[in-house]
Amino acid sequence: MTFLRRLALGASVIALACTSAYAADLTVGFSQIGSESGWRAAETSVTKQEAEKRGIDLKFADAQQKQENQIKALRGFIAQGVDAILVAPVVATGWDDVLAEAKEAEIPVILLDRGVDAPQDLYLTSVASDQVKEGRVAGQWLVDTVGDKPCKVVELQGTVGSTPAINRKKGFEEAIADHANITIIRSQTGDFTRAKGKEVMEGFLKAENGGKDICAMYAHNDDMAVGAIQAIKDAGLKPGSDILVVSIDAVPDIFAAMVAGEANATVELTPNMAGPAFDALEAYLKDGTQPEKFIITESKLYTPADNPQGEYDSRKGLGY
Ligand code: AHR
Repeated sequence: MTFLRRLALGASVIALACTSAYAADLTVGFSQIGSESGWRAAETSVTKQEAEKRGIDLKFADAQQKQENQIKALRGFIAQGVDAILVAPVVATGWDDVLAEAKEAEIPVILLDRGVDAPQDLYLTSVASDQVKEGRVAGQWLVDTVGDKPCKVVELQGTVGSTPAINRKKGFEEAIADHANITIIRSQTGDFTRAKGKEVMEGFLKAENGGKDICAMYAHNDDMAVGAIQAIKDAGLKPGSDILVVSIDAVPDIFAAMVAGEANATVELTPNMAGPAFDALEAYLKDGTQPEKFIITESKLYTPADNPQGEYDSRKGLGY
């Protein structure tokens, strides 16, 4: 029986008097995308820590980057009668049926870090960054940095069909739109992984005169940027000066690259999506408080002027 049904039946009235008693009773399914990036690994461990702290029994399912595995996991959680579901949706489309099944079973679903193209009444809330803004912040950094000098940009996109890939591209393009001196000359997916970021950057370098014609590399996440940095070094160029490097996530490795002078800017994405998600869930289950439909996390820009060694030290060990 789901937590909502127990509520409806008026059971466990005494336990309902305090929030920790709610949490202690809760079973939550979490369908995670996989472990494609350092950021993703951190989100997984922060979510597990948050659940443990609150006494929530977290059922974790790793989808190995496949939407079909996520849909299977959601159906499994529904069959088990969990009290709520967290899902980080690998791509935006194809969720309507399974979300409708969760709704029918009265199991609230919370989206973590990525969005879906589905009716909003099929999920309780979405905890994510403003991904268009992230792209805009990255693009604006480049605009401010190059001024009116000509700048040819290569772009490493995230997973095709995912909201961060779609929105971070859009935001960056918006930021450079009025600056004819800045042009994206190549754009390809690196699937948010370090290995593919390196491989795709190698192709860009070969295609663009060994990289001599490239002014900047924009990656939709830091892991792809770190892979690309290696490719730039292998090509005999200096990342961070011969080719500017701007990306998103703010993981420890990008701060290490900044310390080494090999990366220029990153936009922070907090891995703590679970804290706000569990707060919203507990309030909802306690007395029906409806959370905001979109809980937006911050998007702060970091550059080498922002104490990258300190940022590395404070993040290292926090689940990364
Ligand atoms: O959805 C968030 C993105 O997914 C992160 O920026 C990236 O590192 C991850 O794979």
